[in-house]
Amino acid sequence: MRYLITGCNGLLGQKLLASAPADAEILRTDLQENGVGPDDSPYRRVDLGERAETARLVRDFKPDWVINAAGFTNVDAAEKERELCWRANVTAVENLLHACRRHHAKLAHVSTDYIFDGKNGPYSEEDRPNPIGYYGKSKLAGENVLRASDLHFAVARTMVLYGRAVGIRPNFVTWLIEKLKKGESVRIVDDQSGNTTLAEELAEGLWRIAAVDACGFYHIAGREIIDRYHFALLIAEVFDLDAGLIARIKTADLAQTAPRPMKSGLRVDKAMQQLGLKLSDARGGLLRLRLDMENRNSP
Ligand SMILES: NC(=O)c1ccc[n+]([C@@H]2O[C@H](COP(=O)([O-])OP(=O)(O)OC[C@H]3O[C@@H](n4cnc5c(N)ncnc54)[C@H](OP(=O)(O)O)[C@@H]3O)[C@@H](O)[C@H]2O)c1
Repeated sequence: MRYLITGCNGLLGQKLLASAPADAEILRTDLQENGVGPDDSPYRRVDLGERAETARLVRDFKPDWVINAAGFTNVDAAEKERELCWRANVTAVENLLHACRRHHAKLAHVSTDYIFDGKNGPYSEEDRPNPIGYYGKSKLAGENVLRASDLHFAVARTMVLYGRAVGIRPNFVTWLIEKLKKGESVRIVDDQSGNTTLAEELAEGLWRIAAVDACGFYHIAGREIIDRYHFALLIAEVFDLDAGLIARIKTADLAQTAPRPMKSGLRVDKAMQQLGLKLSDARGGLLRLRLDMENRNSP
């Protein structure tokens, strides 16, 4: 089987490459001139916001599946850089849809809990979206491009993705570990809650979607709902760091540009039952990350 992995230089993209089936033929693509990380499958630079470039990419490689891990993912920057955000989260999906339809490829796409307003999570796949910020609006518009199409597609919604990868922006877990290691104090909100997701587990879920030819919407995230402050305490515990450096605050104490879904979360029963995924609780995901970091550092 042939797989086109977009956004291959990002966190999820790198984890998809690391967990690809042994016999998969892969073409990697992203915005930068070169691919990053240890993977040595062929790489081609493409801006998915460009329809002709995207069409040529799919025409030349003829993938069975496109796994779209590309996107504009900076929630606060999305409020100001609206055109760039729309281009990556909506126009790119339209372009992939056209190319996949023309060349008979299936498309697995990734979305987010930010399509919900966070008033009464956790949410099931059937709950009604109501995004409150521009990032969420763009991700919902990307979903709707596929929902309205006749393509064989699957959308995996996830949230609070974390993990280690080459050259990526820090995520909540890697940021907090670095801060606590340096002995710096941090202020963490206790009024935002949801699932936390080890990127490897989302990658495994996407490979499973392709393996069983799944279609439709799936929530793929860690299986426990936890607030950020208690998740931070858990990170300190699992990585033997000083929890005394973590101060408990409220979202209103932070001047974040974009509004956050507060009581969010994704119900993951469907993905566990129908796809047979084993999704970790908050501690299990962190323990798996710790083990991975120790293995990398061992000779
Ligand atoms: N991170 C989270 O907490 C989270 C939560 C829920 C859902 N998600 C979703 O999960 C997916 C993967 O997230 P991630 O954290 O792995 O993202 P990431 O690390 O930011 O990687 C995304 C990649 O897409 C590339 N990209 C952006 N615009 C592009 C374009 N026009 N054409 C081609 N490539 C483009 C980016 O390149 P540049 O870096 O050069 O821009 C980057 O390498 C996204 O769909 C995201 O919305 C993420």
